[in-house]
Amino acid sequence: MIIKSATFVISNREVKGCPTPRLPEYAFIGRSNVGKSSLINMLVRVKGLAKTSARPGKTQLINHFLINENWFLVDLPGYGYARTSKVLREDFSNIIKDYISGRTNLMNLFVLVDIRLEPQAIDLRFFTWMASNGVPFSIAFTKADKLGKTQLQSKLAAYKRELLKDWEELPPIFVTSAETSYGRDELLNYIEETNPLFAKF
Ligand code: GTP
Ligand code: MG
Repeated sequence: MIIKSATFVISNREVKGCPTPRLPEYAFIGRSNVGKSSLINMLVRVKGLAKTSARPGKTQLINHFLINENWFLVDLPGYGYARTSKVLREDFSNIIKDYISGRTNLMNLFVLVDIRLEPQAIDLRFFTWMASNGVPFSIAFTKADKLGKTQLQSKLAAYKRELLKDWEELPPIFVTSAETSYGRDELLNYIEETNPLFAKF
């Protein structure tokens, strides 16, 4: 898919302020600092469109971006990082849960996972929560540039083995790097193939 335009639309604290759900939408979620905002910028090739930071907890709101005038990308706050209060330390904030369960045009949620890490309990709990809520999701591994080819393959295989302990089938899996744009075409092709399914809603 060719990205012709990418514009910021609105930031919201609650799902009710989000744009009218008339277009297909894809959101990015995952632990704080995993690279959600960076991946969005890499996909659309606009540095700084989604705000990134080396410190976790940067994205705090639901951020909508309109792509090619006909679909939305959404940057969500991360989970698994407590900045201030105990309330924030709950697994998944209400803002995340309400967005995911309330957004009728959400075609797919990309759950980002740092390829270098062992499977994290909080991510596995998130997969379980989504499955029990019937949310369609994919896994997008991030920061692939930080590993060599052999290491990358063995991390990927180990992660799949871990998932298959709990799941009969694996979700779609993407491997990406915001630094090198690795995986960009695969992810955008997947969105392009999924967009036409929106009409059936
Ligand atoms: P929150 O909004 O805080 O939840 O974080 P986030 O998931 O949006 O992460 P963000 O995109 O802000 O990136 C966090 C840090 O990781 C930044 O320092 C990025 O430069 C770095 N980073 C993100 N993606 C990659 C990647 O693919 N490769 C490398 N080497 N660094 C990355
Ligand atoms: Mg962010």
